[in-house]
Amino acid sequence: MSKNYQRYMVTAALPYANGPKHIGHLAGAYIPADVYVRYLRLNNKDVVFVSGSDEHGTAIPNQALKENTTPKAIIDKYHELIRDCFEKLGMSFDIYHRTSEQIHHETSQEFFLQMHKKGLLTEETSEQYYDDEAKVFLADRYIVGTCPKCGHTNAYGDQCEKCGSTLSPSELINPRSTLSGKPPVLRPTKHWYLPLQKYEGWLKEWILVSHKEDWRANVYGQCKSWIDAGLQPRAMTRDLDWGIKVPLPNAEGKVLYVWFDAPIGYISATRALFSELAKGKKEFSTPKRDFGKVAADDWKKYWQDEETKLVHFIGKDNIVFHCIIFPIMLHAEGEYIVPDNVPANEFMNLEGDKMSTSRGWSIEMHEYLEDFPDKPDVLRYALLTNLPETKDSEFTWRDFQSKNNNELVAIFGNFVNRALVLTQKYFDNKIPPVGALTEVDKKVIAELKEFPSRIAASIEGYRFREATASLMDLARLGNKYLAETEPWKLSKTDMSRVGTILNLALQISANLAVVCEPFLPFTSRKLKEMLAQGNTDWANTGSANLLKEGHQLGEPKLLFEKIEDSVIEAQIKKLNDKKNAMELASTPADPAKPEVSFDDFSKMDIRIGKILKAEAVEKSKKLLKLQVDTGIDVRTVMSGIAEHFSPESIIGKQVTLLVNLAPRKIMGIESQGMILMASDKDGKLRMLQPSEAVAQGSKVS
Ligand code: MF3
Ligand code: ZN
Repeated sequence: MSKNYQRYMVTAALPYANGPKHIGHLAGAYIPADVYVRYLRLNNKDVVFVSGSDEHGTAIPNQALKENTTPKAIIDKYHELIRDCFEKLGMSFDIYHRTSEQIHHETSQEFFLQMHKKGLLTEETSEQYYDDEAKVFLADRYIVGTCPKCGHTNAYGDQCEKCGSTLSPSELINPRSTLSGKPPVLRPTKHWYLPLQKYEGWLKEWILVSHKEDWRANVYGQCKSWIDAGLQPRAMTRDLDWGIKVPLPNAEGKVLYVWFDAPIGYISATRALFSELAKGKKEFSTPKRDFGKVAADDWKKYWQDEETKLVHFIGKDNIVFHCIIFPIMLHAEGEYIVPDNVPANEFMNLEGDKMSTSRGWSIEMHEYLEDFPDKPDVLRYALLTNLPETKDSEFTWRDFQSKNNNELVAIFGNFVNRALVLTQKYFDNKIPPVGALTEVDKKVIAELKEFPSRIAASIEGYRFREATASLMDLARLGNKYLAETEPWKLSKTDMSRVGTILNLALQISANLAVVCEPFLPFTSRKLKEMLAQGNTDWANTGSANLLKEGHQLGEPKLLFEKIEDSVIEAQIKKLNDKKNAMELASTPADPAKPEVSFDDFSKMDIRIGKILKAEAVEKSKKLLKLQVDTGIDVRTVMSGIAEHFSPESIIGKQVTLLVNLAPRKIMGIESQGMILMASDKDGKLRMLQPSEAVAQGSKVS
């Protein structure tokens, strides 16, 4: 059972700053975390919400290698890109920090030293692969070789991307270094290990007993199978030149393991935040917050006081680090609290396949924002209604469209708009008085009252999908109320009745404006503007008296707009095009043919000609019979391009052709030359044309 806490420390996984992040990441950690925190703030809870860039580990130098630049350039570029996208999508972090900051280096080195001093780390020497030419130890990702499971010749030291198996470098057949291409050699190296097995008893009590009921089944299950399998010592340092230096003598060339320093990043972010707050440089994003004067040291309350509820929002690939390794570090260090919950999500697939930036099968945050800059809430909603909370889920563009058109527009937007427009029309845009209440009115008031606590219970139980569904049900309640009472039909006969109905509809709208804030913050702001409504605490919602009689409303506007089929089709095409382009870019080009002499080359007579006629060839799927003006003559060329071009589409086009190829008979017709084409790796043909039209017979050389 979760106890009553005084304050909250909420973290969302620090994304690697090695590339853009996609909507699956949003659904995994960030959106649920943001809903949770916004809800807490509306309840005036003392909450700190941190995230930031994870800038260490081999992922960063790897990407630098790919982009032919420095690790520093990579982290700067992607830190900014990701931070900006998060901001545009409404992620309300108190701080979005970076692990490259000085304060983080200090915090994690102190943490390491403290553990070292307490004798919590063991030193062990082991043999690791070393590149004799590059003079470095090779991280798993820098070793490739043949996969022992499937025979793929380019498997990495930690994973085969072809068959998906997890590997260790020693399992690779014919290993070679990606740096020099040479086979690596084994060399002894010393590292500091955290003996996880020593904490087995504590872990069992803490997770398997205490959190059996309140942790998600998938999270609990993963932890249990790790613990049941028996824990092993795990190296907390690496031989690498990118990372936080091991703060010990004789530790040249050694850095902290990225999974040692990254979660400490949450702590350094909190430290950085409080140092800014104490200097008065920054304000808490919690409205109406008054928790006394802030001191730089206050970060400790959030990490070291038992009255703080620590919650980590992550995706399922991070479970072991947040539920086992980091908690052991916190617990062993001695001063720290451990998480109350780690509501990890499963994965969100995309249009029937796994989301993957490297395969091009993804919608990156910046891509969405470029195409839908004014619709952050639509994405939030589409993801929220589809969160992979208990099992993997799937995002499709059709579903996105339908969530927008059939729910946000048709229910939420439509309801609010009708209430506002009718009030403008009949009551001079002021809240009309409530008259005698009918049974329908009383029922709607009673139902309204139930919503905030129902939604709150879902949020507090980390059931954000359910919470979002209830939010839409509240809009549905309003929509149904107007459909049943039909105020537009009563305007001729019973204006006071119309007033009562609109008053109640506007009260529901005002409740929606508050309750939707955690989910749809931009919509909430817009709606509050339309209702000229101030800030309301969550505790005051559920009331049918949020807006007083006579209150002057703002200008009604549309909250959402319909998304047309063509927009969705364009997105689906864009996605497929991106995947195809990535596939092509990642398949290597064929190796070059053997060398030829210039003389050999100059024997070829290549010219620009023009296709005068093109026709299908009977009984052949592949061939077209062409008449080509070569400048020298008009001749027949048989060309195997019928599957790529229709005859009509190429008539009149200039093409490149070899005119002195020996004639040969194809399907009984003599072909006098050959059209040259560019062919893709997937076999698609493209014509070779001069960049501007030239005279027929122009030479190509
Ligand atoms: N960078 C890791 C990832 O993207 C997550 C780090 S979370 C933290 O999978 F604990 F290190 F902060
Ligand atoms: Zn394999």
